[in-house]
Amino acid sequence: MCGIIGYIGTKKASPILISGLLRLEYRGYDSAGISTVEKDGLSIMKDKGRVKNLYNLKGIDDLQGTIGIAHTRWATHGKPSKENSHPHLDNSQSFSVVHNGIIENYHDLRTFLINNGYTFYSQTDTEVIPNLIHYYYSKDTKDDELKVLRAVQSACKDLKGSYAIEVISKYMPNNMIVVRKDSPLVIGKGDEENYISSDIPAILSFTTKFYLLNDNEFAVLSKDNIEFYDISLNKVQKDLKNIDWNASAADKNGYEDYMLKEIFEQPNAIRETIGSRLPENEPCNFEDLNFTKEFLSSINKIYIVACGTAMHAGLTGKITIEQLCNIPVTVDIASEFRYRNPIVDKNTLCIYISQSGETADTIAALKLAKSKCATTLAISNVIGSSITREADYTIYTHAGPEIAVASTKAYTSQVILLNILAVYFAEVLQSTSSENIKNMKKSILELPYKIEDALKTSDAIKNFANKIYNEKDVFFLGRGIDYNTALEGSLKLKEISYIHSEAYAAGELKHGPIALVENGITVISIITDKNLVEKTISNIQEVITRGAKTLVVTNQALPSNNIDVVIDVPDTCVYLSPIVSIVPLQLLSYYISKEKGLDVDKPRNLAKSVTVE
Ligand code: M6R
Repeated sequence: MCGIIGYIGTKKASPILISGLLRLEYRGYDSAGISTVEKDGLSIMKDKGRVKNLYNLKGIDDLQGTIGIAHTRWATHGKPSKENSHPHLDNSQSFSVVHNGIIENYHDLRTFLINNGYTFYSQTDTEVIPNLIHYYYSKDTKDDELKVLRAVQSACKDLKGSYAIEVISKYMPNNMIVVRKDSPLVIGKGDEENYISSDIPAILSFTTKFYLLNDNEFAVLSKDNIEFYDISLNKVQKDLKNIDWNASAADKNGYEDYMLKEIFEQPNAIRETIGSRLPENEPCNFEDLNFTKEFLSSINKIYIVACGTAMHAGLTGKITIEQLCNIPVTVDIASEFRYRNPIVDKNTLCIYISQSGETADTIAALKLAKSKCATTLAISNVIGSSITREADYTIYTHAGPEIAVASTKAYTSQVILLNILAVYFAEVLQSTSSENIKNMKKSILELPYKIEDALKTSDAIKNFANKIYNEKDVFFLGRGIDYNTALEGSLKLKEISYIHSEAYAAGELKHGPIALVENGITVISIITDKNLVEKTISNIQEVITRGAKTLVVTNQALPSNNIDVVIDVPDTCVYLSPIVSIVPLQLLSYYISKEKGLDVDKPRNLAKSVTVE
């Protein structure tokens, strides 16, 4: 999705803006641009294509301005082109604007502005914003220091949809204005300089101190001051947050790709997720929850709502919560939940999982449950992200910044956090034996070492990847909890290798999909539940009989020896096995993507954080 960077300070803005954009590249984009305040007015440099092309634009080195805004665009309205790239100017070239999000009523606003003499040069929804600002600025008869802010406020009142907006103006050459609604934007505070970004990692090398804007709040920045205003332009106070991620956490640290680095970071990421939540010989410690037995006993239903990989984490969490706590759990895709009038009331606990904390559908699903009086709990990796500010309660995965579009360490830390949460609920509710709780805790604490062992499958997986990287279709099979791992393995493969793949509950095979199994097709299976070994093996035999190449990821002793490749992973308690068994499948999609020469970290058409519907 689109990315925003802003700088206001004492240094030349353009190199800082471009280096910020380079750090946002992972979000996905098709064009890039910057705008700075120069002595003779506002500069605009933009084009379709990569951020690094900006370095070659004529005149870019001549820019001297110390205030600027920048943008990577992921096309929604209008094809990728120079005209459609941001920043956009108003007709009088007095206001320069970048925008993330979608203006749903842009057509009406455009018609209104055309009727008032404005001309449009792009097909974007964004171009209405600078012109609306100009419209209100020219109608305002009061001439004071808030005049530009009032114009931005009036324009925002007309906008329907989602936005994070940066504005610079020749009428306010020492300031920048930013505003957000349902779209991410953070403000980084430096010494005699301030930064804007769509996410924290992009500007971590400049500062670890951040202000987080709420929806419909404005900030007016100068190099050494930031004033915050609500929608009615009353001043508001904000706390400065210190983020304890260090800048190197957002670097590749010698790895070829972020994805590989993040796969190998999983043992430590999980140590951070466990943190002090499992103290020895004491109950689980969730500082920010403190749920009572009375409260948890009043919960008769749990929804876990998320998208993509985060939803797969939820599927695994469901099994542990149901088994340990005896509360029914429904896992829902956020974009479905929000439109299907789910049965939710004050006795429902809704858990929302989002690595980025900015996924539009997940946030909308959370708001819906809140409006129906449910208790809402967010699980996120990003401190202060939008979802954490909407939810009644938040717990963080603490996995460190995840840059690669394909989610790996965030997934395993989400699964482990859901398992710790299940243990915590069970302790409070006394819904399972203390022996069970003790065993779960022990298994959780051993997991980082087990993942270290699972990572040792890397070479064997690379060999298999070399054999199958040209495949057109791959099947993933699993039963019970292993079906969830099959779903996640299949999603990883699709995302970064562009190989078509399907995940099936192994028992479903005979009900249709087996018709697709033909000589030479690759079938990957996961077997970690000792009670289901024979059942899944029977299904694997059925595909072997029809000529399939097979790979099995397992922590069990398998009876059959005609499987092509068996990848052994360490044994653990069945609820936790997805955390270990997914590791070889993450590596498999990584090595296939590399073998095909694809961009592992930035797969086509995908964005790291999906901030629009
Ligand atoms: O930031 P979120 O966890 O809310 O993102 C949800 C999905 O968009 C995300 O998990 C997506 O499926 C990943 N690219 C999967 O690797």
